[in-house]
Amino acid sequence: MEKVTARKLMKMKGRQKIAMVTAYDYFSARIVDEAGVDAILVGDSLGMVVLGLPNTLSVTMEDMVRHTEAVARARPRALVVGDMPFLSYEVDVREAVVNAGRLAAAGADAVKLEGGEEFADRVRAIVRAGIPVMGHIGLTPQRYLRLGGYRLVGKKPGEAEELLRDAEALQEAGVFAIVIEHTVPEVAEMVTRRIEVPTICIGAGPGCDGQVLVFHDLLGLNPEPPYFAKKYADLAGVIREAVARYVEEVRSGAFPGEEYSPPPKKK
Ligand code: KIV
Repeated sequence: MEKVTARKLMKMKGRQKIAMVTAYDYFSARIVDEAGVDAILVGDSLGMVVLGLPNTLSVTMEDMVRHTEAVARARPRALVVGDMPFLSYEVDVREAVVNAGRLAAAGADAVKLEGGEEFADRVRAIVRAGIPVMGHIGLTPQRYLRLGGYRLVGKKPGEAEELLRDAEALQEAGVFAIVIEHTVPEVAEMVTRRIEVPTICIGAGPGCDGQVLVFHDLLGLNPEPPYFAKKYADLAGVIREAVARYVEEVRSGAFPGEEYSPPPKKK
């Protein structure tokens, strides 16, 4: 199967819904790629679900480069999108291009950054440098202090118009897709209808061109997932049960026994 490029993903709008999931390491990337996702997001959500941080604000470029490299080493067919962490693109255009370049050098096929019209100049410069950019509007967790928490966006007067303006500005600046997070479904659908690039939603209803979920939420590894994340498996339960059996067998002496002791046995 052919590699998914940003251009191919863009052309999926109106033809096929886009399935994106996060992954942060080599084996997870291999597994989600084998499962057939279109895009893998090395999200800064790794701050919470991998590093145990309270939010994404202290995720660094070094964290993102290290995890992007690990995912890219899996050589997935899916598009690999590297998330630009807090303060890696806000300060000025030059820094934004340099940091996007570091993620591309780490193996990202594209980068994602949070924000709308206010960062259109960064998007334009990164695209001009040759790196495809995915936008991210609605709830932008890197701006949660200013937003006043992780709230649903699109309800307050003027927010729907602002979201549309942001989406249009990002499109004009050259993004190939836009993530819309935790937004009133009717607003996300309206934006989806009004722009030409695909929208990929999380907690913003079904009227988008695609969906994205965080690996740990989808698989039941996060004990406190957001209400809009469907749990497709209970991996925490599977892992707990398997490790408890291992502990029990070590204590009882049942493991390793003859079967798992050298020399190797033919299976
Ligand atoms: O970092 C992340 O996982 C994200 C998704 C929630 C879209 O940005």
